[in-house]
Amino acid sequence: AETGYDLWLRYQPVEAQWRERYAARVTHFTAADGPTMLAAAGELRRGVAGMLGYDPARREAVTGDGAVVLGTATSPLIAPLGLPLTRLGAEGYLIRSAVIQGKRVTVIAGNEEVGVLYGVFRFLKLIQTRQPLDGLDISDAPKLRVRVLNHWDNLDRYVERGYAGQSIWDWQKLPGHKDPRYTDYARANASIGINGTVLTNVNANADVLRPEWLAKVKALAEVFRPYGIKVYLTARFSAPIELSGLKTADPLDPQVAHWWKAKVDEIYRVIPDFGGLLVKANSEGQPGPSDYKRTHAEGANMLADALAPHGGTLMWRAFVYAAENPDDRHKQAYAEFQPLDGKFRDNVLVQVKNGAIDFQPREPFHPLFGAMPKTPLLMEVQITKEYLGFATHLAYLGPMWEEALQADTYRPRKGMTVAKVIRGVAGVANIGSDMNWSGSQFDQANWYAFGRFAWDPEAKAEPIAKDWAAMTWGNDPAVTGPIVAMMMASREAVVDYMTPLGLGHLMATGHHYGPGPWVSDLARPEWNPVYYHKADAGGIGFDRTATGTNAAAQYAPEVAANFADRKRVPERFLLWFHHLPWTYRARSGRTLWDELIVRYDRGVDAVTGMEASWKALEGKVDPRRWAEVRDFLAIQRDEAGWWRDASIAYFQSVSKRPLPAGHAAPA
Ligand code: GCU
Repeated sequence: AETGYDLWLRYQPVEAQWRERYAARVTHFTAADGPTMLAAAGELRRGVAGMLGYDPARREAVTGDGAVVLGTATSPLIAPLGLPLTRLGAEGYLIRSAVIQGKRVTVIAGNEEVGVLYGVFRFLKLIQTRQPLDGLDISDAPKLRVRVLNHWDNLDRYVERGYAGQSIWDWQKLPGHKDPRYTDYARANASIGINGTVLTNVNANADVLRPEWLAKVKALAEVFRPYGIKVYLTARFSAPIELSGLKTADPLDPQVAHWWKAKVDEIYRVIPDFGGLLVKANSEGQPGPSDYKRTHAEGANMLADALAPHGGTLMWRAFVYAAENPDDRHKQAYAEFQPLDGKFRDNVLVQVKNGAIDFQPREPFHPLFGAMPKTPLLMEVQITKEYLGFATHLAYLGPMWEEALQADTYRPRKGMTVAKVIRGVAGVANIGSDMNWSGSQFDQANWYAFGRFAWDPEAKAEPIAKDWAAMTWGNDPAVTGPIVAMMMASREAVVDYMTPLGLGHLMATGHHYGPGPWVSDLARPEWNPVYYHKADAGGIGFDRTATGTNAAAQYAPEVAANFADRKRVPERFLLWFHHLPWTYRARSGRTLWDELIVRYDRGVDAVTGMEASWKALEGKVDPRRWAEVRDFLAIQRDEAGWWRDASIAYFQSVSKRPLPAGHAAPA
């Protein structure tokens, strides 16, 4: 039975009317040896076997029509064609229908072998999505250099904020046993162009830097290497103390710098193409340079200097907010990092969450984007749905990422969207040991979409959903149509039933799954939902204009003016920036109180609608996956109702306003 293990690489047989057409274009193939070319060839064979039902032969030469010619610019069959490959960079590819020695062939070429691998996945996708293979002239290259997953995986296989089982890294059996699943993981990532993976949690355990663990990391790196995926690790800033008994981890102490240099040299002896280190410092209790009164730049640069001789990268997170800082949490990362622009080494990437605070269902873009022009920034998103209903709630995150990437920073001028100012993307993985990898069938779409947006931050969520749906659920438009419609509306539904109108951080303590807008007794004020919604008898919302914390002023003047004006701010951010009376008129003409309730109802209705759409697909998709989705939608429907009813009941206890006519009281 279908479990979802094959992800979007299911390679199911094509319909009869396509089979002959495709088979004529893939009669045999040519490819050099070399690990990445073998991976590319292996994928081609696997895809053709699944979709067309035969194993295409590998030949030394083109022996007839229908050859697929795999190779780089210097391959003997490809070099004479003079293809315009140079502008495609190290990872781009070109797929072209061509004639070689009088035979009609398809060339899949890249400057490097990894481009060929990416090209093969694209070629197979043409078949998966029933595109013609004639007259092909496709070229593509990633727009961003850094496209990495961040696994928040602990060494004991517990995945922080993971909802898909244990970590897939089976450390106990490594390096002796390389689970074939690691190869499937690499295939899935390569199919969407992901080129790096941070294996360990940002709340880091220094032990992974010990020699016996590095041997395990090396084994994973060996599996991933042919697929163009580099391995990275998180570094605990206090590791010199914990692993070697140094008295300090002060980044300006020569002994400390020496320790890291030796450690990094050791890592590169074990893994010559190691990607680099990722650090969460002085955030939520993690050690860091501030412990020694040093700046983030001083901390990052010390590690960057150790990595630089090896070509390694240091990713340093900007997710900081301090218990002792009474200022609006929205403002803290900007306040701390923006003044450091220009102070980081060239091989430092500052990793900034997409939103100003923390992975909420909706947030305005982080004010650091565009504000550090001398520092390459990564945008970090959470693929795992910590704040969007874990794996049971269906929420396709493509529209959320499109919204963040298309936000205009106006820095230095209009049109400079987040997509245009970043150098790369990091995604907190939603991958675990569950049979279906992501905890649910539909959460696979978020992994898929992450890769697509990392490859092309100008991409659009809907065509990505269409591709995914066709590859994952089959090509019947009667199936993909409703599925794409469900996906495209799903994230907005979650926003509506959890955090409508620009609210955020209303989740219950610790797990962040259910509602908790009433929570007010946590030691750190900025962990309490009441800190964020500020609802009282008079109204609701967080005043981040000049009369409040003035966080809006961290954005470019044009953006700030927009956010700070209650008439111009997009309604989706209304209560993020404004505290307004319950009687305030929403754009619908309703009072804010009534509008809030309309949004909660709308969210629940959207889930009921998804459930009905899915029920209508019974028998059109395989029963096991269908039943899993049906069950999860029922859970989501119940819990959307729980979110709505609990939230409204709480807000009513402060607003003291009657429920509007037409709102169904909770059952
Ligand atoms: C969130 C999340 C934590 C995580 C943190 C981070 O706050 O709840 O589990 O460690 O983000 O991004 O570092």
